[in-house]
Amino acid sequence: MEATKVIIPVAGWGTRSLPATKNVPKEMLPVYKKPAVQYVVEEAIEADLNDVVFVTNQQKRIIEDHFDYNLSLEALLRRTGKEHLLRDVRQVAEMANIISVRQKEQLGLGHAVLCAREVVKQEPFAVMVGDDLMFSRSPAIKQLMEVAKTEHMPVVGVVEVPRERVSKYGIIQAEEFAPGLYRVRHVFEKPDPKDAPSRLAIVGRYVLTPEIFHYLENLEPGYDLEYQLTDALQALALDKRLLAVKLEGRRFDIGDWADYLSANIYFALKDEELKDELVERLGEFLTNKK
Ligand code: UTP
Repeated sequence: MEATKVIIPVAGWGTRSLPATKNVPKEMLPVYKKPAVQYVVEEAIEADLNDVVFVTNQQKRIIEDHFDYNLSLEALLRRTGKEHLLRDVRQVAEMANIISVRQKEQLGLGHAVLCAREVVKQEPFAVMVGDDLMFSRSPAIKQLMEVAKTEHMPVVGVVEVPRERVSKYGIIQAEEFAPGLYRVRHVFEKPDPKDAPSRLAIVGRYVLTPEIFHYLENLEPGYDLEYQLTDALQALALDKRLLAVKLEGRRFDIGDWADYLSANIYFALKDEELKDELVERLGEFLTNKK
């Protein structure tokens, strides 16, 4: 059976992005013209994951609202003849079937995924982290879905990171059985660079099966006293039930300021109308002219 639902956890506090995220969810910070989470939902839709399950909290209603109609705004755009903007805002509201579940306490990513258990029931499902943007020719989550479908196993996305950054990620120890495809033997949460078995870091793309819920339910608090998805993945790896796919393309972690700002510039430079002016301004900053 193929996944049709995607869980997108968006309930975290976003403390790395304070004070910007005091009242605005990190996932709603704009990346050029769209909020970050819209890129994640668009990637899901491209992979035919049309049922989007947001794991939210009471401060995050604005995320669901973004994917809903805004009838007063639409009436204004219609009255003022701004048809192209009307089309854009309608299209966002119609791109996915949105389902929401609440994470009442922010106890970690593993706990957030467990909160969606009743919605996904007995089907395989995707998980896409709401603040991790991936851009590649074939959508990252689709690359994982293809492997999950042929191998009948849970799959995580990994990217190669510089050794000095391994302590920010879950790092896999694995055997490559085909180019870019790995059987995962161990997952180490945020290892010291000198102890890391590889530079392959788990990023926010997963295709899982309901068997993960058994492990999530029985988790002990891990790193930062949170219920870590990585710990449940480690249990799957020990049972020889976890594969990894090396993802190509660009990735931006919205919770990291250098990544966040780079993502804005990356998309703005793709806009032909803005590009020249932006390049000129950036050039001024870089040469310290002003
Ligand atoms: P992060 O660890 O990047 O997000 O979680 P955070 O906790 O919001 O941010 P910092 O570290 O304090 O800055 C990855 C994703 O998982 C969600 C977050 O919203 C984010 O999209 N998350 C995290 C939850 O939904 N619930 C949690 O308890 C923790």
